Amino acid sequence: SNTELSQRIDAVRQQLGDSLLILGHHYQQDEVIEHSDLRGDSYQLSQMAAESPACKTIVFCGVHFMAETADILANRPEKLAQRDGQRVQVILPDLAAGCSMADMAAIDQVETAWADMGEVIDTDSVIPVTYINSAASLKAFCGKHGGIVCTSSNARAVLEWAFERGQRVFFFPDQHLGRNTALTMDITNDQMPVWDPYEQELGGNDEQAIRDSRVILWKGHCSVHQMFRPEHVDAFRKNHPGIKILVHPECPQNVNDLADVSGSTGKIINTVKASPPGTKWAIGTELHLVNRLKQEHPEQEIHFLSPVICMCATMYRIDLAHLCWCLENLVAQENVNVIEVDEETSRWSLVALERMLAIK
Ligand code: 13P
Ligand code: SF4
Repeated sequence: SNTELSQRIDAVRQQLGDSLLILGHHYQQDEVIEHSDLRGDSYQLSQMAAESPACKTIVFCGVHFMAETADILANRPEKLAQRDGQRVQVILPDLAAGCSMADMAAIDQVETAWADMGEVIDTDSVIPVTYINSAASLKAFCGKHGGIVCTSSNARAVLEWAFERGQRVFFFPDQHLGRNTALTMDITNDQMPVWDPYEQELGGNDEQAIRDSRVILWKGHCSVHQMFRPEHVDAFRKNHPGIKILVHPECPQNVNDLADVSGSTGKIINTVKASPPGTKWAIGTELHLVNRLKQEHPEQEIHFLSPVICMCATMYRIDLAHLCWCLENLVAQENVNVIEVDEETSRWSLVALERMLAIK
């Protein structure tokens, strides 16, 4: 039972003390969040790993790209030197906790796109920007090519950084975050062609549109957030006068445009926290976070924006059973599900991640 698993997790935590740090993303289920020492959005979690307190192990309750990022940041040369070469081990409780959006851009596809693009435009003037929801190999690609990583909380500042350095941005894997952010910067949809990696010929990606582009968007999306529809917003506005719409920028443009507020999970939480009692919200992001906000803010009226369930099945894979299993193995020194990015990929990913972390 969950009670028994919780007791077993607590027993391991007592035994390991400060050598163990459990990080939890806001989309994790409540029982997992209760066992997290720190929780955050993707940006905050990467900062926590970068600060890397004096722990030996980080158990990352989130998805694969987050654990990779934590490994790269917690074990960067500067930190390793401070710890006399001692690595922080990063564990993902279930290796099947991936991200379908991150899987929509593979490194060979991005390299092929870059080469194909180079036949039409000068790629020296293109800054590649990868959303943090991507494999470490894509972050390394950005590091090598003068590019950078962004999260949903700093996408605008990162695009501004990029436009100070290049004429165009190649943004992957999430077309919606790229588009929604660029639209706030006087960039128009006709300057944002969508690169389809499954088009066999570059011609299919319209050479003229590439020449005229300011942002080339990768054809990727979040399968959870794309389920929110403009008609859901219309129905709430009609049936609940005065309601405010709060969404994550991974939602499609036609939803994002209708929202009162759009932002990262951290911003969504802070927006609700800062609102007076009686405020009415319809929130378009992962179900577990919206349900938690409902429980934590009974003084407000919080609705889930979609009539159908939108939950992240891979975030949900992290449960008490997996958490308990990896922790008990840790005590037995049979370390399971260790995420370790190879040295070369780490080095170049770090270049792109540090550029992001340097932006205030
Ligand atoms: P943030 O927590 O950075 O808003 O990201 C949301 C998300 O989809 C994580 O996978
Ligand atoms: Fe990936 Fe979407 Fe799940 Fe976030 S919510 S981990 S972007 S599939």
